Amino acid sequence: MIDNNTKKIYIETYGCQMNFSDSEIVGSIMTDHNYATTDKIELADIILINTCSIRDNAEQRVRKRITVLAKLKNKQPNLKIGIIGCMAERLKSQLLEEEKDVDIIAGPDAYRDLPQLMNSVENGQRAINVLLSAEETYGDIRPVRLDPNKISAFISIMRGCQNFCSYCVVPFTRGKERSRNPETIINEARELFELGYREVTLLGQNVNSYNWNENGQMSFPDLLQKVAEINPLLRVRFATSHPKDISDELIQTIAKHPNICNNIHLPVQSGSSRILKLMNRKYDREWYLERIATIKKHIPDCGLSTDMISGFCSETEEDHQQTLSLMEAVAYDYAFMFKYSERPDTLAAKKFRDDVPEEVKSKRLAEIIDLQRKLSHQSNKKDLGLTFEVLVEGFSKKSDEQLSGRNSQNKMVVFPKMNYKKGDYVQVKIGRCTAATLIGEAIS
Ligand code: 5AD
Ligand code: SF4
Repeated sequence: MIDNNTKKIYIETYGCQMNFSDSEIVGSIMTDHNYATTDKIELADIILINTCSIRDNAEQRVRKRITVLAKLKNKQPNLKIGIIGCMAERLKSQLLEEEKDVDIIAGPDAYRDLPQLMNSVENGQRAINVLLSAEETYGDIRPVRLDPNKISAFISIMRGCQNFCSYCVVPFTRGKERSRNPETIINEARELFELGYREVTLLGQNVNSYNWNENGQMSFPDLLQKVAEINPLLRVRFATSHPKDISDELIQTIAKHPNICNNIHLPVQSGSSRILKLMNRKYDREWYLERIATIKKHIPDCGLSTDMISGFCSETEEDHQQTLSLMEAVAYDYAFMFKYSERPDTLAAKKFRDDVPEEVKSKRLAEIIDLQRKLSHQSNKKDLGLTFEVLVEGFSKKSDEQLSGRNSQNKMVVFPKMNYKKGDYVQVKIGRCTAATLIGEAIS
């Protein structure tokens, strides 16, 4: 029951979709312990910042935010500030030493301990738990849904990562890979469907290496199929996949089920086999291109997206040209593109020199971004005249007379509202496009 004594928590999230999902788990743990979540920061007794460590600039943003929030403490002395997630895990007690206004530090596997940590804080202490766990999946927790859209939701199905890509901090902040009990995943998806949700995204740092081995075996393709079978009106997506685990079986499972979306986010990071080896990605350019060819053979209209890093240690102009040529060969629909940022303790920080000058990193990144803009536009132009099934997510950003939603390939589609509403599936014929959006008319 919420009364005047119920403390209110405002959760601010940075970083990846996993972090958004984790914030919903944190919300659920706290509401089970007599706290309430609020979306109004001015009403909060506790502000939790769920943080990301993937690049240095992600951490710098959080540092600035802490400075801003600390000022609120002058006006509201009882306000408590907690730093949770990857940055809490990476920096541990160092963060308490450096940030005097922070009261709580909790790593990604310590969220069940947050209510106890809060008790210590109420008693005037500062509190920290950054223990990583080999088992924690929060499998029994029903997340509170913080996203107001109520049509699509994230379901976290596995945690951690032990691939040790040489640039990446995640194995250090999120610990060992572990899969969540499939029964709890399927139940969560079914409940969401019954509540009116029409799309779930199964999440994991390395989602396609999901594998459950207790009381019966379940692989990722099996799980995907089980979730898809809940109802044909429930769309299923997943992220993020590692290329090494994109099996033929997984590709065929996607091809076989109309409600498993034809969209694969398959981060390649670089087009150069030499750089991929230094990155410890466990595949080379040829192998990756073969996987893409197999995807295109079985799912000809599959939406494809990637992550790219420019300026990794020792990257030459020739390596960079290989990245650009791979992007052209795949013809990605979308990409997340970054400059390499050295992270403490990673294999690359220990073994290689961060030797590509900042201007060169920036110039290469700009070329990657320019090329992707061109590829996205080309891909959208190919869709002119085609009809797609769109799941309506709400009004378009620009007008309440237009609705927007995504097609199976994950492209944003905008069309006149007529009598359609959020949650409807609508057949939309595409008449125009920009690099980012398809624009059409409903035909059903
Ligand atoms: N520097 C730049 N980008 C990085 N990524 C991961 N680590 C780094 C780093 N040290 C990118 C990768 C990954 C995405 C989530 O972030 O492209 O797929
Ligand atoms: Fe950032 Fe990676 Fe942690 Fe997600 S898992 S919050 S991307 S460091």
